[in-house]
Amino acid sequence: MMSDIKNFMGWDTPGVALITGASSGMGAEFAHQLAAQGFNTILVARRQERLDDLASSLVNDFSGNHEVLVADLSTYAGIDTVKQRIVATSNLNVLVNNAGFTTVGKFKDVPLQLQLDMINVHILATVQLTKAALPSMVDRKRGVIINVASLAAFMFQEGSVMYCATKTFLRSFSEALAMELRGTKVHVQALCPGYTRTELFETEYYKSMGFDASTIVDEKWMTSMEVVKTSLDAFQSKAVTVVPGTQNEETAKNSIKKQINDWERASKKKRSLE
Ligand SMILES: NC(=O)c1ccc[n+]([C@@H]2O[C@H](COP(=O)([O-])OP(=O)(O)OC[C@H]3O[C@@H](n4cnc5c(N)ncnc54)[C@H](OP(=O)(O)O)[C@@H]3O)[C@@H](O)[C@H]2O)c1
Repeated sequence: MMSDIKNFMGWDTPGVALITGASSGMGAEFAHQLAAQGFNTILVARRQERLDDLASSLVNDFSGNHEVLVADLSTYAGIDTVKQRIVATSNLNVLVNNAGFTTVGKFKDVPLQLQLDMINVHILATVQLTKAALPSMVDRKRGVIINVASLAAFMFQEGSVMYCATKTFLRSFSEALAMELRGTKVHVQALCPGYTRTELFETEYYKSMGFDASTIVDEKWMTSMEVVKTSLDAFQSKAVTVVPGTQNEETAKNSIKKQINDWERASKKKRSLE
């Protein structure tokens, strides 16, 4: 279908893109931009109504097949459902591991279950879905895996212990996996956005914790459209870690420099005490 539409990899037949966390924000935007490039989509999240509405609008706007797959990726059963769908899809060319959430508060105060759910959604689901998708992609010499990490992957932040740790995992996992996949024509990206206008900070949970996104200055925000376009355009280069926006790139670099400086200062002090 729509083989005359240019897609971001220049493939003659785009095939299927599976996107987790497609019911809002960046996931919904990935679905739009990929459907516009002729991909059929499988839309994964927990909120069926949202996914049904999105699938209908994609069919109306771009035609093609757009399927809904309801799954809670914080559970083994939910991850398994998506894994099975991946294995059964012979032309799955794009996997976007995008589902995610944040918590508010210090590690000792945030309920353990929420933190374990975060490990499942950010890490376990990504690892298992990637493992399920890779064999066919490698055999067919065609594949793209986008792991949505965060600027938090460059940081150690109080109040975001598990978020920074799980997003750092995604960046490290993507970089090393990309090395192993050199020459296979299967490409991996760790997308590391900064503040992006989505529903991430609009949940009842966030409001109940008194977080006010309006306190973050306008210049720091990007739109989902900008972030997703940057992600797809970046496949023209060989970049694995992709940080959208020059301001965010500066923040990432400064964070790494600060970590090196702090480490050097601590090492110097340690040596002086020996
Ligand atoms: N917005 C930002 O400033 C920002 C910055 C850096 C990175 N990110 C990352 O970007 C990704 C997308 O977030 P967003 O900003 O677009 O926020 P969002 O609008 O809140 O979207 C999050 C998506 O994840 C899904 N999700 C959450 N928990 C899930 C679960 N247990 N099972 C299945 N799906 C689940 C949600 O769907 P359901 O609720 O329907 O399940 C929703 O579709 C996340 O990984 C986030 O960490 C966001």
